[in-house]
Amino acid sequence: MNKLLNLPKIFVAMDFNDINLAKEFTKKIDPKLCGLKIGKELFTSTGPDLIKWFHEKGFKTFLDLKFHDIPTTVKKACISAAKLGVAIVNVHALGGEEMMRSAKEGLKEINSDTLLIGVTILTSHDENSLQAIGLSRGLKDSVKSLAQQAVNCGLDGVVCSAMDLEFVKPILPNNFIFITPGIRLHPTNDDQKRIMTPALAINAGATILVIGRPITEAKDPNEIINQIYSNLNAN
Ligand code: C5P
Repeated sequence: MNKLLNLPKIFVAMDFNDINLAKEFTKKIDPKLCGLKIGKELFTSTGPDLIKWFHEKGFKTFLDLKFHDIPTTVKKACISAAKLGVAIVNVHALGGEEMMRSAKEGLKEINSDTLLIGVTILTSHDENSLQAIGLSRGLKDSVKSLAQQAVNCGLDGVVCSAMDLEFVKPILPNNFIFITPGIRLHPTNDDQKRIMTPALAINAGATILVIGRPITEAKDPNEIINQIYSNLNAN
């Protein structure tokens, strides 16, 4: 897909709550090698001006606010995000087809190149928690069905666990984008349970890797990013 050509394969999850920490961190990395994922914590703490600053420094951005609201509100939110110049914006597929179509329409209306991505089922859910909120279809079928709905509504891709690719990728179009968090270079004991290495995730069909702490907490983040690319090239 053309829109993907100028995007790096790695987006660093900028999970900071302080503008200075976030700015300092970007001095250690190269915008040619990675983009920046701005989530609710950083965006709520610092607002859109920081995104403009990242763009001035040459970084591509992924605004990860996972919009989920009535169709008109989500459409307008996506338009505002696109006007900020973010490369990627996302919505919850659980918001339904009308909401996703409306989001896509908004981006089309302003001729935006911003990629529109659907979040299927959060990786923090398991079968029990899905049952509790009334999604009795089960995790695998829910992910498959929501991803298919995202395709129907003209979205560019989905966020999913790299472990879901095995069953979700074969049923979706070849040019669909798969953004995968939960990436670890080595086994860890943190809160990510369903992890995969960068090389395995790319081999499984991931298009963009979202990586946070393994890069943000490293002594030399740029070295880790270069290591990841060497591993990818060696596979
Ligand atoms: O530090 P770590 O690599 O775990 O960061 C992963 C990032 O991806 C975090 O910002 C997290 O909120 C996000 N994310 C996730 N699982 C999802 C969707 C987003 O871990 N399903």
